[in-house]
Amino acid sequence: MPEKIIYDTDIGWMNDDCMAAIFALKSPSIEVLGITPIMGNFDLDYEMVCTLRLLELLDNEHIPVCRGFDRPLIHERSDYADRVWGRWALHQTVEDIPPGMPELKADIRHAANFIGETVLAYPGEVSIVAVGPLTNVAVAVRMYPEIVDKVKEVVIMGGAIGRLPRGEGNITPSAEFNFWVDPESAQIVLYSGAPITLMPLNVTRRSYFAKSLYDSIVSPENIYPEIRELFLEYVGPHFDDPDVDAKEPILFYGLTDHACVGYIIEPDVFVYKEMCVEISVQKGLDYGTSYGYEKGTYVTGSESLPIQNDLNPIRVAYDMDFEKLATLYLGVMTGQL
Ligand code: RIB
Ligand code: CA
Repeated sequence: MPEKIIYDTDIGWMNDDCMAAIFALKSPSIEVLGITPIMGNFDLDYEMVCTLRLLELLDNEHIPVCRGFDRPLIHERSDYADRVWGRWALHQTVEDIPPGMPELKADIRHAANFIGETVLAYPGEVSIVAVGPLTNVAVAVRMYPEIVDKVKEVVIMGGAIGRLPRGEGNITPSAEFNFWVDPESAQIVLYSGAPITLMPLNVTRRSYFAKSLYDSIVSPENIYPEIRELFLEYVGPHFDDPDVDAKEPILFYGLTDHACVGYIIEPDVFVYKEMCVEISVQKGLDYGTSYGYEKGTYVTGSESLPIQNDLNPIRVAYDMDFEKLATLYLGVMTGQL
């Protein structure tokens, strides 16, 4: 039986969230019950039309797309937020998107209601794959607290664990983007007691999207002409960018959100540690930083960490067999798996 998932995402047009959505939609091991866009890398209206158009092009119009939140719970718009990597605070009118506007309409349910009702409709069967800021999931947890015991798992791309390799931030020195956009929501979800697997930057930084992977996806042997065309038209031009290293061309975002989808299909790709993960909601440089530690950890050899919350440990993926993930991804994207 395919794994039932809800895909919660700050999707753009053919960004990593979008490529990971295609990965999930094409995998025979996954049934996507619905997509719940959340502001993040892009403004929510833009994300909604990108999602609807993608489903049209992949012939997946039956999948509900439920509008999420267009801003975080507490984190207010700032010049920094507007400028740096995320456009969550812009609230623009969408004029058009690269492949033209969709005719498909959004589902009338709000993302938080959809998440809560769907998890309760299939107790123990639904995984939430959350690859953007966690606002939709946090509000679902507050509105339907019983989902904490009924969800199969929440698989989250977020955070950077400083005590593990590759643990520096990507939006501030120590914070990762998804958690930094809405740290209060990240805190609600991580402290909820739901079963969680976290894919922080520590593991996703092991990935890269090489030109050779692109070439294989657009090869004539790919049984999905619609995927070939999407990659040829919208991903191929990135490799002509003068900033892309000509000798070893790779796309900067790697297989980031793809890792969460890969985890649903093949969890053995990853290496894990059970850790307590705390999120700082302290305004300033620390905002959105995720601190991971093992219970009873000694830092200096003589003193244990001053632990603030009696948190349940969660599963943190901190390393992976990247070749295995890339092979899995390619197999699904070309119809060989
Ligand atoms: O920090 C990495 C996250 O933000 C990923 O979800 C990726 O989509 C990026 O925008
Ligand atoms: Ca994302």
